[in-house]
Amino acid sequence: MKVISVVGARPQLVKLSPIAAAMGETDHEHLILHTGQHYDAALSDVFFSGLDIPDPDIHLGVGSGSHGAQTGSMLTAIDPILDRERPDWVLVYGDTNSTIAATLAAVKLHVPVAHLEAGLRSFNRRMPEEHNRVLTDHAADLLLAPTEVAMAHLADENLSARSVLVGDVMVDVCHRVRDAVKASPLSDTGLPEGLDTSAPYVVATLHRPDNTDDKETLDGILEALARLPVQVALLAHPRLLAKAQHHGLELARGAIRVGRPLAYGQMISAVLASVGVVTDSGGLQKEAFLLRRTCTTIRPETEWVETLDSGWNLLAPDPASMGEDFARQVLRSVPSTEQGSPYGDGTAARRVVEVLAERCR
Ligand code: UD1
Repeated sequence: MKVISVVGARPQLVKLSPIAAAMGETDHEHLILHTGQHYDAALSDVFFSGLDIPDPDIHLGVGSGSHGAQTGSMLTAIDPILDRERPDWVLVYGDTNSTIAATLAAVKLHVPVAHLEAGLRSFNRRMPEEHNRVLTDHAADLLLAPTEVAMAHLADENLSARSVLVGDVMVDVCHRVRDAVKASPLSDTGLPEGLDTSAPYVVATLHRPDNTDDKETLDGILEALARLPVQVALLAHPRLLAKAQHHGLELARGAIRVGRPLAYGQMISAVLASVGVVTDSGGLQKEAFLLRRTCTTIRPETEWVETLDSGWNLLAPDPASMGEDFARQVLRSVPSTEQGSPYGDGTAARRVVEVLAERCR
């Protein structure tokens, strides 16, 4: 079997790591195609070295642009590669522009597509990711769902016949890296300069267009973070830096200590050492849950609804309007209830490879 994984953005590199390892345990051929959607070393290169992912076989270097231009240039560039390689499967990950571009390129060439992390829904049509994931699910030939809830969404859209529950590959990588950093703590934590690690801190990230594109909204979120009674390690995505500069807003204020995006092991270690997480990232909500830290999600909804059970994750769509309640929410104590294993047992990547091989034409 020959599989081409198409990735481009940071969260996809994390999911690629266990898949590349599981493919590496077999005789199957696995090629990695990197679109170049993320090109900053902190969002791309460090994940290849830090998560033992083989270097990409093909790198398109498309870079940034409007959603249409970025997706279009990826589609144009992927098409001749799939036509030349004719893999048994194109494996696409999650909900980014790289995912929809590779899916469209493949289906038009009648190359089978498998969608990893199928069936997630925010039901928020303002999010580019929601369109990417819905369109990808409806075009793909095989839908690899991480959870029962995702399977139910696919059933609601008449996609059950193409859907398989495999579990979440993020558990595979998160637990492996958690055990590694616990066994040998990192010498370079990557945490912001000026953060006093002997005092409590929360880990914060922010990059969604709905939180960063409007000046007043972003300023309100930053003010709420700045007023927290503990330090805030704000690990700033390039999009946040670019938007803050564009709006003339200062990120470093009050409790906020600004740092760079972290490598995966550094992020796991930072969350483990923190008193909680504040984020609009999908992956980090789930990592907080898996690492048993409370999470406050700066969004009106989440795709990862299992994290909301028992209050491990709470939504805060508008921190600026919450006053002191925001601090109370962020600093609440860890729930005492058992979590169960809604995301599977950490063997999802092997299952993915088995299902791909079983269903290979
Ligand atoms: C993308 C994904 C999002 C994912 C996120 C994780 C889509 C629609 N969105 O959002 O689902 O949660 O990645 O990081 O695919 N930039 C850089 N350097 C980079 C990459 C981006 O400076 O290496 C800046 C540029 O100003 C760019 C902006 O960030 O215009 C947005 O980047 P883009 O890849 O389009 O989307 P993300 O916001 O990163």
